[in-house]
Amino acid sequence: MISLAGKSVLLVIGGGIAAYKTHELVRLLKTRGAAVRIILTKAAEQFVTPLSLASISGEKVYTSLFSLTDEVEMGHIQLSRAADLLVVAPATADLIAKMASGLADDLASTALLATDKPVLIAPAMNVRMWRHPATVRNVETLKRDGLVLAGPNDGEMACGEFGPGRMAEPNEILAAIIEMLKPKAQPLAGKKVVITAGPTREPIDPVRFISNHSSGKQGYAIARAAVELGAETILVSGPVSLPIPPGVQMMPVETAQEMLEVCQGEMPADIAIFTAAVADWRVAAEAHEKIKKTGNAPPSLPLTENPDILATISREPKRPRIVVGFAAETERVREYAAEKLRKKGCDLIVANDVGRGSDVFGGDRNTVHIVSPAGVEDWPNMSKDEVAQKLMERLAQMLMPEQKAAE
Ligand code: CTP
Repeated sequence: MISLAGKSVLLVIGGGIAAYKTHELVRLLKTRGAAVRIILTKAAEQFVTPLSLASISGEKVYTSLFSLTDEVEMGHIQLSRAADLLVVAPATADLIAKMASGLADDLASTALLATDKPVLIAPAMNVRMWRHPATVRNVETLKRDGLVLAGPNDGEMACGEFGPGRMAEPNEILAAIIEMLKPKAQPLAGKKVVITAGPTREPIDPVRFISNHSSGKQGYAIARAAVELGAETILVSGPVSLPIPPGVQMMPVETAQEMLEVCQGEMPADIAIFTAAVADWRVAAEAHEKIKKTGNAPPSLPLTENPDILATISREPKRPRIVVGFAAETERVREYAAEKLRKKGCDLIVANDVGRGSDVFGGDRNTVHIVSPAGVEDWPNMSKDEVAQKLMERLAQMLMPEQKAAE
């Protein structure tokens, strides 16, 4: 039996009929040695009582955001930070919607927004609510934010309907909790990974710039995967609208020149991965005042080439052990990528087809080809998170022989 001794779980109980099953979940967690603190939403208090849960958990049960004594004893921020894992069970449609939109109007939602810890949700609701486009959208958002789902299961519901929406059984939720809390292999512990992501922004004048559509999603997913494998992860990012992945060291930049300087400042590193869509050119002379319409011919903007960050870092004396580039191609993907590998001096090119209908820019999925001097490997269509995990595992393996030799 895997012990959870020394682990602390914050259980947020939502207001659904499945709330009664959380007594058993708390009991199972206690049997494994975990400390369980509990927050009840107002609606949950209609289904279970603070008193019964306090007696099973052996801890105070928290119910209201504005309880002054609770805030003095343990503030809502502290409550969520003190836990190793947050579990939301049952995660009602309402709680899921609140989490997806970042609402914080009671203790449960505030603790969930304030946390920097992993979150597991066990959804429970009527099948139609589960299948409603709003819930589907919200659950997708939560998955993208890195939350993990346990269930829901198919089955008969309290309302008499049948289908997905039944909360996972307590032993299934426990198994998911153990999976999330068990120590992970961290092959990149002690290693430094530098990742560039997003577009760069090249100013024309104080109000205008040249940029591109890069969403930064693939680079951010790689940063998350690097953190998970234990790496010291530096994310050098152009302007994007994505949350900073927990555990990464964020270095925000705007221009290609800044991106290069920050990357150089981060050397030496063990691995560098260049996912950024760096603008190839910048305006030769940035105007210091806004360029005005003159009524004459439109202004011409002479361009000058930006430094190639990947090629520069690849050829630095302090070159990282592994340098990875990305290539966005619309045709002859493998051929062009192989050429780029040689030209840029990197060890691996992750090539993706961004041709018509590929949905790579801004989308959540990617079909990539891994091009190395050893040949080309075609990966199936996967989520950007899966691509990131597979890629980081591959790079960790590539570092391994050197590590073994050093031991
Ligand atoms: N890259 C870089 N600095 C640049 C340009 C590109 O670091 N100034 C990196 C990107 O982050 C990516 C790879 O180089 O890893 C892409 O190379 P690039 O030649 O820019 O690719 P494409 O834009 O696809 O090239 P081309 O215009 O030749 O199709």
